[in-house]
Amino acid sequence: MSPTLTLVQGDITQESVDAIVNAANSSLLGGGGVDGAIHRRGGPEILADCRRLRAGHYGKGLATGQAVATTAGRLDARWVIHTVGPRYARDEDRAELLASCYRQSLRVADELGARTVAFPAVSAGIYGWPMEDAARIAVETVRNTETAVEEVRFVLFDDRAYAAFAARIA
Ligand code: AR6
Repeated sequence: MSPTLTLVQGDITQESVDAIVNAANSSLLGGGGVDGAIHRRGGPEILADCRRLRAGHYGKGLATGQAVATTAGRLDARWVIHTVGPRYARDEDRAELLASCYRQSLRVADELGARTVAFPAVSAGIYGWPMEDAARIAVETVRNTETAVEEVRFVLFDDRAYAAFAARIA
């Protein structure tokens, strides 16, 4: 089955879903953008879980295109699924790594038993991916991924991001 796709404009930390996806970096130790907002609103439990991951299996950090879950701390969601998007590069096609973020996040969601998952526009902020292309990759990948997740909610921060995703879903 492929999930129902829905769109919301707003702050992903406010969403009531089973799992929220974080556009993290490979350190898993926080940053700006969505990552900063999730840690701020979710509280220190998320970072504590991230540190445990770094002390264990993820000693070298989380590779680009991979995903791993932690608690969601004080957020409404039950889990945060951290994924590391690729930085956009004009001279190299990294689209497969961005697609992998969506596939791997859904794989982790399936392992957790999450049925509703919210994604931001991974890589389309600080990592510089052009929004229209980020939206295309996100929507195509989720549509083509076999998962038990019933709803994938794209939560877009501004008008431009919302319009780019809406154009792809229509
Ligand atoms: N809710 C939903 N979307 C948001 C929110 C929010 N609260 N805040 C920002 N966005 P970014 P990246 C949008 O930069 O490009 C961090 O430092 C934002 O407008 O959060 O993958 C990490 O630690 C943009 O459209 O993620 C990494 O170092 C989209 O979310 C690096 O940034 C993604 O922007 C990752 O960069």
